Amino acid sequence: MERRVKRHSAVRGEVTPPGDKSISHRAAILNSLANGTAKVTNFAPGADCASTLSCLRALGVKIDAVSTQPPTIEVQGVGVRGFTEPDVILDAGNSGTTMRLLTGLLAGQAFFAVITGDASLCTRPMGRVIHPLRLMGGRIYGRNRDTLAPLAIKGQELRGLDYTLPVASAQIKSAMLIAGLFSQQKGRTVVREPALSRDHTERMLQAMGVKVTAEGPVVTLMPPAAPPKAIDVHVPGDISSAAYWLVLGAIHPDARVRIKGTGVNPTRTGIIDVLLNMGARLKVENERVINNEPVADLVIESSELTAANIEGELIPRLIDEVPVLAVAACAARGTTVIKDAAELRVKETDRIAFLVAELSKMGASVEELPDGIIIRGGGKLNGARCSSHGDHRMAMALGVAGAVADGETLIEDAGVVDISYPGFWQELERLTAHLAEGG
Ligand code: S3P
Repeated sequence: MERRVKRHSAVRGEVTPPGDKSISHRAAILNSLANGTAKVTNFAPGADCASTLSCLRALGVKIDAVSTQPPTIEVQGVGVRGFTEPDVILDAGNSGTTMRLLTGLLAGQAFFAVITGDASLCTRPMGRVIHPLRLMGGRIYGRNRDTLAPLAIKGQELRGLDYTLPVASAQIKSAMLIAGLFSQQKGRTVVREPALSRDHTERMLQAMGVKVTAEGPVVTLMPPAAPPKAIDVHVPGDISSAAYWLVLGAIHPDARVRIKGTGVNPTRTGIIDVLLNMGARLKVENERVINNEPVADLVIESSELTAANIEGELIPRLIDEVPVLAVAACAARGTTVIKDAAELRVKETDRIAFLVAELSKMGASVEELPDGIIIRGGGKLNGARCSSHGDHRMAMALGVAGAVADGETLIEDAGVVDISYPGFWQELERLTAHLAEGG
């Protein structure tokens, strides 16, 4: 599907972003491992979390969709030993989180399973999750000398492990913590990261009664004597989806948008810190805590942005927001340097290469670094024919660019937003439902 986007005279209104994708995956997986039944409200509506549900169902977990407004599921936990051998190949679709977290779960089961994904996921690095899980006792094999999916997993008795991750990664950390739940009395699991990645797994396990402690980027899990307790979860809005409206509001000359009920976990709010630093007129209001996760409303108004340096420990706190932050940097006065972000090359696409290619088509002055991008901002963006390359976050970032550019932008393969934000294009239309420029 192609999408045409052009600038409108104003951006106004309220938005409720879809439920957080990372928290939704965890609410489904961890409640499946728990004892008891749990309701998860505002479950993320995109295809990625649907992949997690279909894999869990194939492993014998009963999950019912009990309402659509907001999307709500009921998960009947089977306990750590209650999963059953799947008679199909598990399909994680486009979702790295599904594949990596479930590999941690499958490593500790008393059966055999195969998990695969789409063409993009089958090129993404899996050696990084296979390696520590093997050290915990798992038997996991994959293509390309055990580095790529499909993965074949023969579950085993696992033991705890003290392991230093080569890169900050919530997916690997979470896979290890889930595997650590199966290590029974065989030692604690310690995960050391170079910088703290999102900590939703730790928070949810704590709320389920599991002994998990964190000291900066070092997380320790004691193997529980009993399975985690099922907990109802109300999933906050996804800050990674709110990010598109934050940037559009900041860089459009006549904008005011209120984004309601957004998760503001400090391991995810790098985008807020950077935008404030760039001079955005952004307010965080009505802060509260729901299910051990901080939530707030965000209000953004047209702003005069200046460039920023985005690097180091900030990177894991905004890794998924780099595509749209690059668009903000195009509009900002001065030169923005994004570095220490080589991980972007192994996301749904090589986001460094494709951001440079697509933003260049729109007239931006961008330069590729091995681990980032240099953006000379302040010039105009021009409408152009662009492609998402099948990457949901690229499609939405280009949508925001198109909504401030001169002329029309055509985005190829724009339907891919359904991975994390079905309804994104309709929301963009609703917020910009004003007279077209000059009209
Ligand atoms: C996620 C972690 C991040 C992020 C991804 C979702 C998660 O990846 O990019 O979209 O839910 O754990 P890392 O494993 O690189 O942290």
